[in-house]
This record gives sequence, C-alpha cells and structure tokens, in this order.
Amino acid sequence: MSANLLTDAIPTTENPLYEQIISDLVSQKFSIVDHFFPSSLILELREKLNFKYQNEDLKKAAIGNRVNEAIIEEIRGDFIRWIDEKNADDTEIKFFQYINQFIEYLNRTCFLGILHREFHYAVYPKGKFYKKHLDTFQNDDRRKLSMVCYLNDDNWSLKNGGELVIYPKDNAEIVINPIPGRLVIFESQILEHEVKPVIFGDRLSITGWLKTR
Ligand code: OGA
Ligand code: MN
Repeated sequence: MSANLLTDAIPTTENPLYEQIISDLVSQKFSIVDHFFPSSLILELREKLNFKYQNEDLKKAAIGNRVNEAIIEEIRGDFIRWIDEKNADDTEIKFFQYINQFIEYLNRTCFLGILHREFHYAVYPKGKFYKKHLDTFQNDDRRKLSMVCYLNDDNWSLKNGGELVIYPKDNAEIVINPIPGRLVIFESQILEHEVKPVIFGDRLSITGWLKTR
C-alpha cells in the first residue's frame, strides 16, 4: 500500500471547534462560540444555579485575592459560588468533562501547560455590573485563559443589559450579548473587559480560569 504523505500528516483527532477557538485566540486574543456545550447541559446548569441562588448559596463577590480581598460594590456587584470539583454533582461533572477535554487538547496541541482550573457560578441581579478590569492579580499571574459561559433564559436580549464588553488594544470595543450557551474565551493577562449594568432579569453564568503552575 502506497502511503500518501500529505494526508498521513494530518492528525486524525483534530477537533474543528477547538481549532477555531485556538485560531481566534492566536489572531485576536478572544473567541466566541455558541455550541461548546450541548443545550441540554446549559439548561441543567441554569436550573442548578437558580436553585442555589434561591437558597442563598451564593455570596457577594470580592475583588483581589487572599490578603487584599475586598467587597467593593462600585467595582463589582455579582454573587458567586465556587464549584468544588471534588463535590461536583452529575451536572457539574458533565461540565468539567467538556472543560477537561478542551484543556487536554490545548496542552497537547499548543503546549499551554494548563495544570489547574477554577470555576464559579455568578449571578448579576438588576443594576449590578463589573467595571473594566483584567482577570489577573498583582501577586499571582497563573490565570492564562478566562472562560465565561452564559446560562441566561432563552429570551435574553440586549434589552436586558449585562453585555460583556472586551477592549482589544486598538481602542476597539467588542460588545457581546450574553445569550444562553454562549462561551467567551479570552487571554486573562491581556484583555481588559467589563460587564455592563443589568437592566432587568438575573444575569446567570459560569466563569472560570485555566491556570499554569
Ligand atoms: C469576571 C468577568 C465576565 C462576564 O467574572 O471576571 O469579567 O461576562 N465576567 O460575566
Ligand atoms: Mn473578568
């Protein structure tokens, strides 16, 4: 059998969705994808988050970390709950399977060296926002990629507010409507971004970071 050198060189395990994300990250430092997770999983995660929120399992989010942590309403007004992967429920386990498969791909094809991940649920009630910031700390630069996945109701529209605005270096503003199932991935140390005030409804998401050692 004669080998075809060209086609033999193409890895058979290439994932077109991941390749799209990687090429977006290389060219513009962010990527927006709407079908990273199945819509059934988005629905389940939304139900879990609504349940936790109604049971007051979420806490006011702080800025900073460890020594310099503070709750400052004028900067950020969301409520969060960190997901403990060791105590994850069935829905969260499924969520992490998708995340871990993506990390495995990034490490294998891009040598990113992602060793840790951390994710939290977030709710921004009406009027809440998060002022322009970078997702990296003064005393800790391990966060490489930020990932935000929206769990909003299916009828969420721009009228609800709560847009994510990303500021690439060239003074441009990318305004992203947080529609359910949408995943935004960006370079944590490079891209400034903000969450605009929510006008009505509760803005629901899971946000997390892929980290190096
Ligand atoms: C954050 C953040 C963006 C969003 O939690 O650090 O910037 O769209 N979130 O929720
Ligand atoms: Mn952020």
